[in-house]
Amino acid sequence: MSQQKTVSHIDNLPSTPGKFKPDKSPPYIHRLRVHSAISRLTLWSSLFLIFIICFFFFSPPSSSASPRRALGGDSWGGHNWEKKVSRSAQTRSGLTVLVTGAAGFVGTHVSIALKRRGDGILGLDNFNDYYDPQLKRARRKLLDRAGVFVVEGDINDSELLRKLFDVVAFTHVMHLAAQAGVRYAMQNPGSYVHSNIAGFVSLLEACKSATPQPAIVWASSSSVYGLNSKIPFSEKDRTDQPASLYAATKKAGEEIAHTYNHIYGLSITGLRFFTVYGPWGRPDMAYFFFTKDILKRRAITIYEAPDHGTIARDFTYIDDIVKGCLGALDTAKKSTGSGGKKKRAAQLRIFNLGNTSPVPVSELVSILEKLLKVKAKKKVLPMPRNGDVKFTHANISLAHKEFGYRPTTNLDTGLKKFVSWYQDYYSGSKKRVARAFSNI
Ligand SMILES: NC(=O)c1ccc[n+]([C@@H]2O[C@H](COP(=O)([O-])OP(=O)(O)OC[C@H]3O[C@@H](n4cnc5c(N)ncnc54)[C@H](O)[C@@H]3O)[C@@H](O)[C@H]2O)c1
Ligand SMILES: *[C@@H]1O[C@H](CO)[C@@H](O)[C@H](O)[C@H]1NC(C)=O
Ligand SMILES: *[C@@H]1O[C@H](CO)[C@@H](O)[C@H](O)[C@H]1NC(C)=O
Repeated sequence: MSQQKTVSHIDNLPSTPGKFKPDKSPPYIHRLRVHSAISRLTLWSSLFLIFIICFFFFSPPSSSASPRRALGGDSWGGHNWEKKVSRSAQTRSGLTVLVTGAAGFVGTHVSIALKRRGDGILGLDNFNDYYDPQLKRARRKLLDRAGVFVVEGDINDSELLRKLFDVVAFTHVMHLAAQAGVRYAMQNPGSYVHSNIAGFVSLLEACKSATPQPAIVWASSSSVYGLNSKIPFSEKDRTDQPASLYAATKKAGEEIAHTYNHIYGLSITGLRFFTVYGPWGRPDMAYFFFTKDILKRRAITIYEAPDHGTIARDFTYIDDIVKGCLGALDTAKKSTGSGGKKKRAAQLRIFNLGNTSPVPVSELVSILEKLLKVKAKKKVLPMPRNGDVKFTHANISLAHKEFGYRPTTNLDTGLKKFVSWYQDYYSGSKKRVARAFSNI
């Protein structure tokens, strides 16, 4: 994507439905002059063409035997599809979890970890092209091998959600689908509203109507702390000064969660992730595109705060985040509603999941230089005011108290694993790519 090459940002997260891309097709040119014979022929052939197109898209009504095809290219439904859905979600004794954003960075790792310990997992992802969809397809291959089926569809498609809850009695929903990325919000604000607001509401609606209601664990973000300067960030701190639309939609999600908990008795846990990194990570994040650019001998841009201050992040390794997600799922209490009404108060929680040791971006770059054995060409610029914050630092004592959350991977160790995955995955050698696929 073009913006990845030109900007350096620290906290960027991805996902965009293609339909929100600006339409570049040229305007139609209308001709007023009519040549009767030719135009009549054109008219009839156009009508015929329209008929064929309509027939193609709309003819097989969604019966249980034939897959439904949406104009976006997603297809679902049919016996085979249902069988795959049920098989993937089957568990002997564990949880039955719907993982949204399953082909995403965190979604892939969490799904595989849950599957390995015996839970039944069904994935849902729309494979949008906010960043290289090839990487999402490759993650799907990993999931396939682990026995996790990923339904291709949108969380704002309530018909699809209803169908999934009809076929499977999910005990839990791990909601990770979102439009991520701080800078991208200025380019495509609608995609944030689509996935993080409308999509989240449509998911909660489906959960509220399901019998039994599942417990929900979902990804908020450290970005809700916005312009706060009191550190470390604690869950009770104010979160009403978001610095980006992304942060604002995550904050809105936390409020929407409160409402669904309050009215319908849904058990909901929000997790505020702090800059997650690791193998199979997101190409729009600094550690990822710094690695790419350093290897290509391209200059990287490092931002500094106004007074030559450092920009730092509480980088959190993916395996630690996975442990936090599992801990939250395992301690989630049941939802208490049915038939659209709650019977009694339900659980509502918020936890920070960070590493508790902020690292300046300059140090991130030195570690990468050392691991890649290449000196970076650095350009230092003042940080533009377009969404990023100066500093993040998590207080994680609440998650520690509730489910023993304790991160164990420091940035050196974690980046070493990332770099070794990166070099295998993008090596172009069959053997090494296979290794990239086997080390998860
Ligand atoms: N990675 C981080 O540093 C970080 C930090 C804070 C919060 N988070 C949050 O954690 C979650 C997972 O992040 P990630 O880093 O794995 O991002 P990701 O972009 O890799 O994963 C999100 C996935 O959701 C899918 N998706 C997006 N919109 C969808 C929709 N409308 N319907 C169906 N699928 C959709 C995308 O295709 C993508 O595969 C997100 O909610 C993100 O906002 C991540
Ligand atoms: C989400 O879906 C609803 C219908 O289910 C639709 O009305 C709405 O426009 C969609 N919202 C976005 C932002 O795509
Ligand atoms: C961290 O948060 C806990 C509450 O969860 C609070 O008691 C403690 O004082 C906080 N620690 C710091 C250093 O702010």
